[in-house]
Amino acid sequence: LTCERYRVERLPFARISDSDLTFFEHLLPGRVITDAEELKPFNVDWLKSVRGCSTVLLKPRTTMEVSQILKYCNEKNLAVNPQGGNTGLVGGSVPVFDEIILSTGLMNQIISFDHISGILICQAGCILENLNQYLEPKGFVMPLDLGAKGSCHIGGNVATNAGGLRLLRYGSLRGTVLGLEVVLADGSILNCLASLRKDNTGYDLKQLFIGSEGTLGMVTAVSILCPRKPNAVNLAFLACPSFSQVLRTFITCKDMLGEILSAYEFMDDGCMKLVERHLKLTNPVTESPFYVLIETSGSNSTHDEEKLSHFLEHVMGSDLVVDGTLASEGKKIKALWALRERITEALTCDGVVYKYDISLPVEKLYDLVTDMKVRLDTAAKNVVGYGHLGDGNLHLNVTAESYSHSLLDAIEPYVYEWVSQYYGSISAEHGLGFKKKHYIHYSKPKEAILLMQQFKVMLDPKGILNPYKTLPSKAEQ
Ligand code: FAD
Ligand code: MLT
Ligand code: ZN
Repeated sequence: LTCERYRVERLPFARISDSDLTFFEHLLPGRVITDAEELKPFNVDWLKSVRGCSTVLLKPRTTMEVSQILKYCNEKNLAVNPQGGNTGLVGGSVPVFDEIILSTGLMNQIISFDHISGILICQAGCILENLNQYLEPKGFVMPLDLGAKGSCHIGGNVATNAGGLRLLRYGSLRGTVLGLEVVLADGSILNCLASLRKDNTGYDLKQLFIGSEGTLGMVTAVSILCPRKPNAVNLAFLACPSFSQVLRTFITCKDMLGEILSAYEFMDDGCMKLVERHLKLTNPVTESPFYVLIETSGSNSTHDEEKLSHFLEHVMGSDLVVDGTLASEGKKIKALWALRERITEALTCDGVVYKYDISLPVEKLYDLVTDMKVRLDTAAKNVVGYGHLGDGNLHLNVTAESYSHSLLDAIEPYVYEWVSQYYGSISAEHGLGFKKKHYIHYSKPKEAILLMQQFKVMLDPKGILNPYKTLPSKAEQ
């Protein structure tokens, strides 16, 4: 059980009573789940690394219902775990003990879409891929994309400030989210659902909830700026002989592709072997120590293809790239993206996964992986590196046949100390959740952590929202 492995004690929240269940059943008829079998998948995270023991899952449809639930829970001192698609990777999305799971599963309505501005307003439980499918025929796309798109909810994306594969082009949700509707711990509804590009009236409160991982309020609706769907998308999958060539290719690519560059992802040979072995995918180029995936998106296919061909000729003619393949039509594009997007899935097939999501100066990015390989040697099954190189974001992953405390001790806190010496971030895009909250001080000064704790107390004085997550309590520091 999670609480045993992580030695965490249940805080003195109330336990669910029959009268609580009667209240919820009255409020949400047929939408209160208490069946143990049905609850199982909501109690365990995507990585199957942490498990809670909640006995109640609530499925509101409206903001008003969320408000009534939280008002009641706050009064009764009942702890609550907001949950979207449950694809989070840091153990934030599942209860630690018996917290009530508050799911956005039925909050999946699109509220409005403005064809001129591209502003979409929708409920928090809309699945990212469904939103994209709604927008594409209208000539728009969502400004974010990630491997979990088929399951994750936009509310969960906002709550984690998810980065993903399009950040290089469209920036972070901190820029594209224009407004939020949030229900606070006491049930009050904060309607900041603006759909304005510019609004400097007071503090920008929505930023507090973006990336707050369900600890400050329940996001119930999102207003988001969606870009036009690019007319021409091209992909290049390249093989590089060393990491320094990956970096030089990146510089060349920014220079030669300029405004049409929309993704620059990398993966090492270890990742390629994992997707080949576990998912039976095929490497389309010559086996090499590194691979990069470059996407261009623009409005004129002839112009973009010409630019990409020139770039390719140049890098293949120099020592930067040893082999490469191009794609400009749907099926091949999807197949090439799968090599990168499905690494996460392949890793889970390899055994127990120790997952690190790190921001570092780009020239240092792979040194950490090399160092870890030497340090862990045969104690690990595989040590691999991949990620959003264009954003300075490395995903370092270690696998082993089974969970081992000594392996974990060999990785942590070493990995965090390593990152901290270069002023990197110990969580670039996945958040801190349950598993990383004790390491926040490697990336944030104590004054910042104290201010965060004060915000938490102000917004959620009883601490009912996602307890045990994101921030260490003062006693734990
Ligand atoms: P959940 O997992 O349900 O919840 C995540 C956190 O948000 C929890 O703390 C939860 O309490 C809180 N939360 C959820 N909904 C709400 C709400 N409405 N209001 C308040 N709090 C809420 N992340 C990236 O950044 N980039 C990637 O490229 C990426 N790729 C991924 C690929 C795969 C295959 C997987 C499994 C995960 C990936 N992730 C990635 C992790 C990422 O955090 C999630 O996929 C996504 O953003 C979480 O959305 P979700 O709806 O599943 O939220
Ligand atoms: C990714 O970029 O593939 C995701 O963040 C998931 C992961 O880190 O495995
Ligand atoms: Zn990522």
